[in-house]
Amino acid sequence: MIEDLLPGAIMSSEAFDDSQPCALFPAEQAVISGAVEKRRREFTTARWCARNALGRLGYPQVPVVPGAKGAPVWPADVVGSITHCTGYRAAAVARSSDITTLGIDAEPNKPLPAGILEAIAVEEELRWVPDFLRRDPSARWDRLLFSAKESVYKAWFPLDPLREPRLDFSEASITFDPVGGGFLARLLAEGPRLSDGSELREFSGRWLVRRGLVITAIAVIATSPDARNTPGTADDLRLTQH
Ligand SMILES: CC(C)(COP(=O)(O)OP(=O)(O)OC[C@H]1O[C@@H](n2cnc3c(N)ncnc32)[C@H](O)[C@@H]1OP(=O)(O)O)[C@@H](O)C(=O)NCCC(=O)NCCS
Repeated sequence: MIEDLLPGAIMSSEAFDDSQPCALFPAEQAVISGAVEKRRREFTTARWCARNALGRLGYPQVPVVPGAKGAPVWPADVVGSITHCTGYRAAAVARSSDITTLGIDAEPNKPLPAGILEAIAVEEELRWVPDFLRRDPSARWDRLLFSAKESVYKAWFPLDPLREPRLDFSEASITFDPVGGGFLARLLAEGPRLSDGSELREFSGRWLVRRGLVITAIAVIATSPDARNTPGTADDLRLTQH
């Protein structure tokens, strides 16, 4: 289902359990050698997803290990993102000539634990979340907000990996289109610089609620070097079925 959120240039793969056999490379094994079983399972199935997605992009099987601050290290001309939560694992990748950066995140469609919304939401979000929950209780809008911010972070990080401190929850304000399946993340802090020197001020993304999960995805479409590098909009996301 993640492919429903992604433009055609992005290849993805997902799994709903850990039944897929996946041999880890030594470098990957080293990462989880001391980890608990749950972490080993999610890490391994996410590598299965990453290998499938890379394969669809035409890449051979390579190790995908966490690099600086946990971000996955992809082949040189590839951008990508990984997510896992109970009952779901996914990876999405694209050529950097097509997509500047991307972020995906999945969460259970369940209320955030007490106190978390107040910790992650800015003022305007604290206003619209209760309103959206009243109007459409089938979607946990508090959890969708959290997921969207995680996708923002995953898409933002590769563009500004050295920034300290890292992007905080208070530095993005999210608005959802409750019908069309889109969302917009406005950066409240200085945005990262794109290759043409312009500042990225916002990310646009897509969301869905299905199979007990909320899923969000952001893709910044690359533009030609002489065109102005602006983030992709929902309309830019040339949605196709894989
Ligand atoms: C890193 C973080 C985004 C991961 O999200 P999560 O919902 O906890 O977990 P998920 O399962 O969805 O994602 C885990 C994957 O994220 C990826 N990831 C970790 N650090 C990352 C980073 N700095 N940049 C991009 N991706 C990262 C990894 O691939 C990881 O899987 P792996 O360890 O198996 O390779 C989250 O733990 C975090 O630190 N959030 C705080 C920062 C933030 O969200 N700020 C809000 C800005 S508006």
